[in-house]
Amino acid sequence: MTLANLTELLATTTRGAIAAFNVIQIEHAEAYAAAAAHTNLPVVMQISQNAVRYHGALAPIAAATLAVARASEQPVVVHLDHAEDEDLVREAVELGLTSVMYDGSRLPDEQNREATARVVQRCHDAGVSVEAELGEVGGKDGVHAPGVRTDPADAAQFVADTGVDALAVAVGSSHAMTSRTAELDVDLIARLREGVPVPLVLHGSSGVPDAGLVAAVRAGMRKVNIATHLNQVFTEAMQTSLREHRTVDTRRYLGAGRDAITAEAARLQQLLALEPTT
Ligand code: G3H
Ligand code: ZN
Repeated sequence: MTLANLTELLATTTRGAIAAFNVIQIEHAEAYAAAAAHTNLPVVMQISQNAVRYHGALAPIAAATLAVARASEQPVVVHLDHAEDEDLVREAVELGLTSVMYDGSRLPDEQNREATARVVQRCHDAGVSVEAELGEVGGKDGVHAPGVRTDPADAAQFVADTGVDALAVAVGSSHAMTSRTAELDVDLIARLREGVPVPLVLHGSSGVPDAGLVAAVRAGMRKVNIATHLNQVFTEAMQTSLREHRTVDTRRYLGAGRDAITAEAARLQQLLALEPTT
């Protein structure tokens, strides 16, 4: 059994940041487990509320991801990502996920704090860690919001008010970018690390070039969420495979996608751990 919650994992990870990759198909989870086996590094496998909406339910994809995670020799956090629905958080805890992100960033500030504190209490009773977001990173609805910034004093107060274990902050990235051109406010990351007593999380990391990711980790980011970039890699490998092989065997082209993101996930894990590539 290698399941861990985020707090436990970050406490034992002394260098760099942990890579957090999104699972939509079972092939994603299999790829991240294979990457972790190759790098000997822990990984977060996360299922977003949007992925749950796509499947129509959390339970089947959660069961598949948990089974892959339990078979891994590396520590794996199975995390619910961007949950805006408290009932979905409750279901995730019941299903055995070890970590959740409750995203109340679209709520009015006071309501966000109250709802987040309520989620934290319930999750902590079950040994589940909670990440929250302050300062909407934006882009999930297709609109990029790279101008939004999280204020360090506000972030510290938010953590004190809610008891969250990790905090997603807005520092210049934006969700769902398909070009790696985002410029992060590295000074702000350093100030947030100074002022905020819990690990910081970078969202929308697909748009950040390698050098920006390394700078963000050196400045204090501890969990780095990457989804769109890996889906680009997956899709390109699948398209190449379909062009090269006339086949109706889904294993052939999904397998090509899975192999491609295994290699890229491993590379990113090592980059974020500030370790030389093997
Ligand atoms: O929560 C998930 C992430 O923040 C991923 O964002 O798709 O822009 O990499 P991304
Ligand atoms: Zn995100």
